[in-house]
Amino acid sequence: MLEISDNGRTWLLTGPTSSYAVHLTDADELLHLHWGPRIALADAEALAVRPLPEYWPFESPLDGREEYPVEGGPRFVRPALSVRTEERRGTEWGFERYETEGDELRLRFCDDGLTVTLHYRMRGDVVERWVTLDNQGPALELLRADSATWTLPDREEWRLSQLHGRWGAESRLARAPLTYGEKVIGSRRGHTGHQHLPWVALDTDATEERGEVYGCALGWSGSWRIAVAQLPDARVQITGGAGHDDSGLLRLAPGESFTTPVFAGLWSDGGFGGASRAWHAYQRAYVIPDADQDRPVLFNSWEATEFDISEEQQSLLARRAAAIGVELFVVDDGWFGTRTSDRAGLGDWTPNPDRFPSGLKPLAEYVHALGMQFGIWVEPEMVNPDSELYRAHPEWVQHQTGRKRTEFRNQLVLNLARDDVQEYLWERLDQILSSAPIDYVKWDFNRCFTDAGWPGEPYPQRLWVDHVRALYGLLDRLRAAHPGVAFESCSGGGGRIDLGVLSRTDQVWTSDNTDPLDRLAVQHGFSQLHPARAMAAWVTDSPNAMLNHRASSLRFRFVSAMAGVLGVGGDLTRWTEEELAEAREWVTLYKEIRPVVQRGDQYRLREPRGGLSAVQYALGDETVVFAWLQAQSFGEPVPALRLRALDPTVSYECLETGEIHRGAVLAHHGLRTGLRGDLDATVIRLRRI
Ligand code: DGJ
Repeated sequence: MLEISDNGRTWLLTGPTSSYAVHLTDADELLHLHWGPRIALADAEALAVRPLPEYWPFESPLDGREEYPVEGGPRFVRPALSVRTEERRGTEWGFERYETEGDELRLRFCDDGLTVTLHYRMRGDVVERWVTLDNQGPALELLRADSATWTLPDREEWRLSQLHGRWGAESRLARAPLTYGEKVIGSRRGHTGHQHLPWVALDTDATEERGEVYGCALGWSGSWRIAVAQLPDARVQITGGAGHDDSGLLRLAPGESFTTPVFAGLWSDGGFGGASRAWHAYQRAYVIPDADQDRPVLFNSWEATEFDISEEQQSLLARRAAAIGVELFVVDDGWFGTRTSDRAGLGDWTPNPDRFPSGLKPLAEYVHALGMQFGIWVEPEMVNPDSELYRAHPEWVQHQTGRKRTEFRNQLVLNLARDDVQEYLWERLDQILSSAPIDYVKWDFNRCFTDAGWPGEPYPQRLWVDHVRALYGLLDRLRAAHPGVAFESCSGGGGRIDLGVLSRTDQVWTSDNTDPLDRLAVQHGFSQLHPARAMAAWVTDSPNAMLNHRASSLRFRFVSAMAGVLGVGGDLTRWTEEELAEAREWVTLYKEIRPVVQRGDQYRLREPRGGLSAVQYALGDETVVFAWLQAQSFGEPVPALRLRALDPTVSYECLETGEIHRGAVLAHHGLRTGLRGDLDATVIRLRRI
């Protein structure tokens, strides 16, 4: 809901539990008024007439209060907008008008020929903000154009939560007090990065289920930056957007425009859990395509076979996968060109004739005949120098004249800002998807930008931004042309997870680390922002070959992976009959609980910190609890799990044991899990009676 004051200078957006208000002063300063619990327009108007504090000349009363601080004038905070023309730098804007379209509010400002429009839209309790810049004046350089600046209310002792990581260890939650100055996170790598998810949360005293939490998440899959500033008067603002430093984002020629990605903000007073559930609901309703459709159980061949693949051996794996109940069989890297290792073939998107003499169609049809969908791996944005593509078009990669072309994993990055590169990729991918009944594409990205140059193009070069736009364009075009195909975002595991890519993909590869214990921490962090519906998790072999050689039971591995979109990635040709039979039982169970996991509300009952951890999902009358015991020390009793979202006045039947539990007892005294020893795990289903 959007309400506007009679004088047209105070705007109030309201969601189910929260409100957001801004006000334009008589001097055309756009001030932030409110972000928090629901208020009435009269409350916003009362806030609007509160005088600004008076400061000595070394501070600005605007700092920490402006909705979108531009560069220049009486401001000392980091600007959200920084532009430069031949003649001058900064912005001195005047308010032009406001517009509404449906539930979207647009506030339009002008500085000579540059129009800056701030966009606001409420989606549930999530405020979506973005900015468009339309240049009808002289050419200008956009040094910085953040999507939004978020202003927090006056409070003491803010804490900052972030999700940090690296390859094999993504999305790990860190929480620490905020102090004066700035905390800056981001990616300078051309993709979202393993190092930080583009999200922060701020609270003062929240617990998992109580207290105020403010969060912001950026929808951009290239380089980005979020700066959280505690200003000299202790006020906190968060500004964020595309682009990684102040060296320039784009040039805007006369007549050109730029739209920033969305920076979404959420206030919740339901603690960290309530905030996460609101983010999950938002993504399922407004971001992830077809989120009401449950994702199938997949098999992925990577850990089983790596590059050593053939049609016959993939067929054998497919038979095994079908026999345990897998619904989607995905052939990973190695099916195309001369790609028999990571040294060659990337870029040549035709099936390897030695491995797939009649193309992918026979295997795809075979997989379909086994009752499964068929998927393939691609990494379209890259090329090995040892490839037909690179030999034909060495100028198609990002590079700088006279400088080295840095290789990571023996590959270079294609310059997707080029129309000819985009067209090549579109033709190749469209051709592959038309050549065989393919239902699923795992889209990988296995190195960061380094020598991101485009000889002949003026600086600042638009290839950083245009690479992401081209990626989005390709995904959009492929989805439109092949509406039955689902896409997975992968970047050496979880290197490209953000709201931007999630609006075009059906699920993400969470991490190359498939160790089921490490995964609990990764999944705990992931769940702060993203729903289980998007979180792919595989059961692989034990001991874990990829990361740490830790041995774990099939039970522990399945219960860990079943908390997301279940997949299997082990070498099924080496699993014993008993293991295959057990796997089949877990897959059957997963299919039964899948609607609750993928569409239900998630409650983190205990975080993974060494002993017992647990997650609960609730949907309608059904509740599913996943519990893991990392280690039991000194034979101490394992704590009971106090469940959430239950009706205390009714009873629940445990589908595992047939026991009847009172809701009030489960909520206040807890559910006993029966877990013992080390690396034990269980799934408990409860149904309201
Ligand atoms: C990195 C991915 O994360 C893996 O799952 C696998 O697809 C490899 N790339 C293949 O090269």
